[in-house]
Amino acid sequence: MYSDMRERLEQATTGGEAANHGAAHLLAMYYEIVQRDQPVVLELGTQTGSSTRTFLGAIQEGDGGQLVSIDIEDCSNVAESPHWTFIQSDSADIKGIVSAAPILKLGIDVLYIDSLHHVDHVKKELFGFFPFLKRGGVIFFDDVDSLPYMRGREKDNIHTEIGNRTILNFLHEVFEDNVEKLYFSISRGASGLARLEKRSKLGDELSDEQMPRARTSKRYWKTRRSILKRLGRLLPSINS
Ligand SMILES: C[S@@+](CC[C@H](N)C(=O)[O-])C[C@H]1O[C@@H](n2cnc3c(N)ncnc32)[C@H](O)[C@@H]1O
Repeated sequence: MYSDMRERLEQATTGGEAANHGAAHLLAMYYEIVQRDQPVVLELGTQTGSSTRTFLGAIQEGDGGQLVSIDIEDCSNVAESPHWTFIQSDSADIKGIVSAAPILKLGIDVLYIDSLHHVDHVKKELFGFFPFLKRGGVIFFDDVDSLPYMRGREKDNIHTEIGNRTILNFLHEVFEDNVEKLYFSISRGASGLARLEKRSKLGDELSDEQMPRARTSKRYWKTRRSILKRLGRLLPSINS
């Protein structure tokens, strides 16, 4: 039923700029799924089903598998397949989703996070579902590029520009705090697509412990260092 998805997306990558990048991002996820053996795929955010039908196309072209799609709205009519389960739920309700779709306990191959694009919500989804990801499992995130929403660009919107940048910064920090458990890459263009790959085993959690963050002002750190140096020189004479 969805066997023409790859062809349609490949054609779309030759269209206009935004369509090109958007289709390329869907295709990247298609290729990720099609190469896997009986993959378990979870998508958070279903809407009209563009990603749903893409994933079902990949499952059909590959060696089978199962797709579980979540949305707070009823999107149960956007696709039809024996490989598909739709669950109407808040995507941050990890416990409820896993008990409604116990196949997720066997390990998720591909997780697509594309529901409520707010950093607190994305954090709940990422930290909540990470333990259910297999080693080598991949998490894709939509809406991580601010470019189309910046001043003078086609979708100029300060809210989305800053929102997307906040989510991308958050993903950088998660990577920096968990570098031994992850690979991280980003495709820019359209609303962007970030990819985290799990290097640790099923059941492993992400650490929320914060490492020192990036230094942004050379002047601040130079001044701080020279004050500490001077204090260091002064203190021995004060103590003696
Ligand atoms: C960007 S759309 C998803 C698009 C879809 N993945 C695609 O590529 O065609 C975001 C969806 O997230 C849903 N949503 C918003 N808040 C949610 C929440 N808290 N839990 C689950 N779904 C939510 C919305 O109803 C909407 O359908």
